[in-house]
Amino acid sequence: MQPPAEPFKIKVVEPVNLPSEERRKEAIREAGFNTFLLLSEDVYIDLLTDSGTAAMSDNQWAGMMIGDEAYAGSKNFYNLEKAVLDVLGYKYVVPTHQGRGAEHLMFQHLVKPNQIVPRNMYFTTSKLHVEIPGGKMVDAIIDEAHDPENLHPFKGDMDLNKMQKYVDDYGVEKIAFVSVEMNVNMAGGQPVSMDNLRKLREFCNDYKLKMIYDATRSSENAYFIRERETGYEDTPIIEILREMMSYSDGSVYSSKKDCLVNIGGFLATNDKEIFEATRNMVVIYEGLHTYGGMAGRDMEAVARGLREGTQYEYLKYRVNQVRYLGEMLMEANVPIVKPTGGHAIFLNALKFLPHLEREQWPAQTLAGAIYEDSAVRAMERGAVSKGRDKETGENVFPALELVRLTIPRRVYTNTHMEYTASSIINLYEKRNTIPGLKMVYEPKYLRFFQAKFEQMPL
Ligand code: F0G
Repeated sequence: MQPPAEPFKIKVVEPVNLPSEERRKEAIREAGFNTFLLLSEDVYIDLLTDSGTAAMSDNQWAGMMIGDEAYAGSKNFYNLEKAVLDVLGYKYVVPTHQGRGAEHLMFQHLVKPNQIVPRNMYFTTSKLHVEIPGGKMVDAIIDEAHDPENLHPFKGDMDLNKMQKYVDDYGVEKIAFVSVEMNVNMAGGQPVSMDNLRKLREFCNDYKLKMIYDATRSSENAYFIRERETGYEDTPIIEILREMMSYSDGSVYSSKKDCLVNIGGFLATNDKEIFEATRNMVVIYEGLHTYGGMAGRDMEAVARGLREGTQYEYLKYRVNQVRYLGEMLMEANVPIVKPTGGHAIFLNALKFLPHLEREQWPAQTLAGAIYEDSAVRAMERGAVSKGRDKETGENVFPALELVRLTIPRRVYTNTHMEYTASSIINLYEKRNTIPGLKMVYEPKYLRFFQAKFEQMPL
């Protein structure tokens, strides 16, 4: 495919430096083969995450200058509230410092000990915030999502048969709520269809279950609905978003992705009871309910970015830049999760490094090898991220053992994508020479952030 033309021009640049081969070798060892522990200045192209890494527009930067830093009643909060109402259709907003702050409030309010939370796969911080109040997150995504080769257009869909089984096995009272993630991160940035959301709403109505979204990447999800679902070909993205949200009882939201900002989050709902409870809790954990851990200027940037990030031409370029990288890799037979998703390309580490055992952490190994080859920073999304089973304490080895090449929004050029593809293709050609890792330090919570590894003999 042709690289997609950017719907913007560049006004400010930040120089980046490609470290020498010798420094790269040393840096990844100093970091214990954990790309989270690399120094940013040792990285040439940073594809660790799409979270908080976007380039803001001139309009957003202008908004930063009208930050109203009042402790209470900042006008930027009301601009944010209005943007959430216009774009997502929720009238109540509780601001938080980032997405996990919203998860903390929402899940602490909704989850009681021994309850389950069915979800389309899981996300690391979401899973933990269900576990802290004594609950357990259980998987209800369609089987196709666990197969990297399957070309299902909506691999984020929830499986209603699995949902029925949870209701039958546990009983409705044991289900805290149903959690639905948009453009499922851990599945490869795969969308949920409108049809699935509609049917799930009916199911939840039948059992009086609350349906709460992780709407973090909902604008990119809405783009896929427009691209793939019959009847939405010409529907404005905002209309698609509002219909999606209309099936929910509320959302938690990390603004650091689709809102094109560097920090921020919120929860939003039309349910007065959820709103009142979480608005009360926010003052304990985050800050007053009109800033929730964000500066006024940051709320203004979120408000503007939420609107900007729904522009069709922008979303088209965004999704196609990710696709462009994916197509270059597929042409060279590099194993990736298909179809390519919204925010990242996921390499299938089990196929890339078939000579390694699961206990040698293939995805962690591959992320380290990519850095050493090209100073491109990627992220492990496999067994290290999944962590241990809460009850047995054993390592859990999920079907997907992936390395995520996450594309920051509006930051890198298509030439950067070409550089990245050629490094990975080069590595794929010499994959048999890559030795596995052993974990030598393991923190208790969210171990992937801080764990350390050493190389094992080949
Ligand atoms: N939900 C999803 C689906 C996420 O991807 C993230 C963050 C969060 C919640 C938490 O939000 O970081 O603002 O506290 N994902 C980042 C990532 C960290 O790299 O995928 P946060």
